[in-house]
Amino acid sequence: MSKAFEKKILITGGAGFIGSHVVRLFVTKYPQYLIYNLDKLTYAGNLENLKDIETAPNYRFEKGDICDAELVSELFHQMQFDAVIHLAAESHVDRSIENPLEFIQTNILGTVSLLNAAKENWKGKLAGRQGGEQNKLFYHISTDEVYGSLGETGLFTETTPYDPRSPYSASKASSDHFVRAYENTYHLPTIISNCSNNYGPNHFPEKLIPLFINNIKHNKPLPVYGDGKYTRDWLYVIDHAVAIDTIFHQGKPGETYNIGGFNEWKNIDLIKLLCTIMDEKLGREKGTSEKLITYITDRPGHDRRYAIDSTKISKELGWKPSVTFEEGLERTVDWYLANEEWLDHVTSGNYQKYYEKMYLHRMKE
Ligand code: NAD
Ligand code: DAU
Repeated sequence: MSKAFEKKILITGGAGFIGSHVVRLFVTKYPQYLIYNLDKLTYAGNLENLKDIETAPNYRFEKGDICDAELVSELFHQMQFDAVIHLAAESHVDRSIENPLEFIQTNILGTVSLLNAAKENWKGKLAGRQGGEQNKLFYHISTDEVYGSLGETGLFTETTPYDPRSPYSASKASSDHFVRAYENTYHLPTIISNCSNNYGPNHFPEKLIPLFINNIKHNKPLPVYGDGKYTRDWLYVIDHAVAIDTIFHQGKPGETYNIGGFNEWKNIDLIKLLCTIMDEKLGREKGTSEKLITYITDRPGHDRRYAIDSTKISKELGWKPSVTFEEGLERTVDWYLANEEWLDHVTSGNYQKYYEKMYLHRMKE
């Protein structure tokens, strides 16, 4: 490598939804850093998400599996990374209910394979834990789902006890525990952040918002689980990427930071707002899209409410969301309508089969 970079950062899962925004932000904002994106390119990973920066001099991509311990260890040896931002994961709750083992493999074993490679490679190279500038960091991206499900009131804070309730959240909780175990046992400098529901460009159309945008566009039913009164806290994905940048540079090793939008919506209210925006954008009569709403059999073990208290990151690091929900949702709709090729591409192949398996029978029940 000809140029000497100030830092070499391994980002895993950088071709996915959130990862692609984090990679773009770091590649463009920090030309002095080398950004190395390791991604298996599962159904959720898409290099189109990074087309605009793929030839940047400070960017490298490698297709590979984080569970492949040999590959990961060789990569650390070759590249001598200073930091890891770990996003690679299986991320969809419904898929975890269908196939939990895949989630255990990637989310738990994959995380441990990375932790191990970092521990081995950074042996003897860590600045003293008592003072001294922090020179290495393993930053693990996690979710608010590890805290379980809330009633009508209350918020998840960084000290809320873990209570994961789906195979997805159990696998993420387990990976968080391993990160803390490596910090405690091997003094690996780590940070974890737990974020609420993201939305925005590049989101795979199996998750609520992009699935419904795609279905409305094609006049397909909108499958609302159960009574539709489940609540989520929504954050625009670029605000999450900025929070990750802030935590990466200013966060304290050993700490956890919750990230959220203070923006709770019951699913059905969000869906109605989305229908209104889509009617306007598509030039359809008001009320047209709402007619597609179809209540279907609920997700098993469906968590009722998530809500994040992000006071700590805002007070200690000065981060807060910059985009209102209405603005972010409109931007998101505009992006999907302007990027038909992207949508067609990701909904080709096995997508139709997945859709039929996940939804069609539940609509008839
Ligand atoms: P995503 O499913 O869109 O992307 C995951 C990426 O990881 C894909 O590019 C995929 O190819 C890659 N990947 C999967 N398995 C891999 C493996 N074994 N080796 C290498 N790469 C692999 O996910 P996302 O929504 O962008 O989520 C990213 C991270 O953020 C995840 O850890 C997720 O748990 C967490 N998170 C997501 C949200 C959200 O709302 N989407 C909220 C909080 C936290
Ligand atoms: O809270 C953070 C988590 O948010 C992330 O860790 C996950 O990776 C991410 O997928 C997301 O999980 P959710 O299960 O909350 O997201 P999803 O988009 O799948 O569902 C949002 C809500 O909408 C949830 O209450 C289920 C409901 N839903 C979802 C789909 C796909 C429907 O009613 N119909 C649907 O078709």
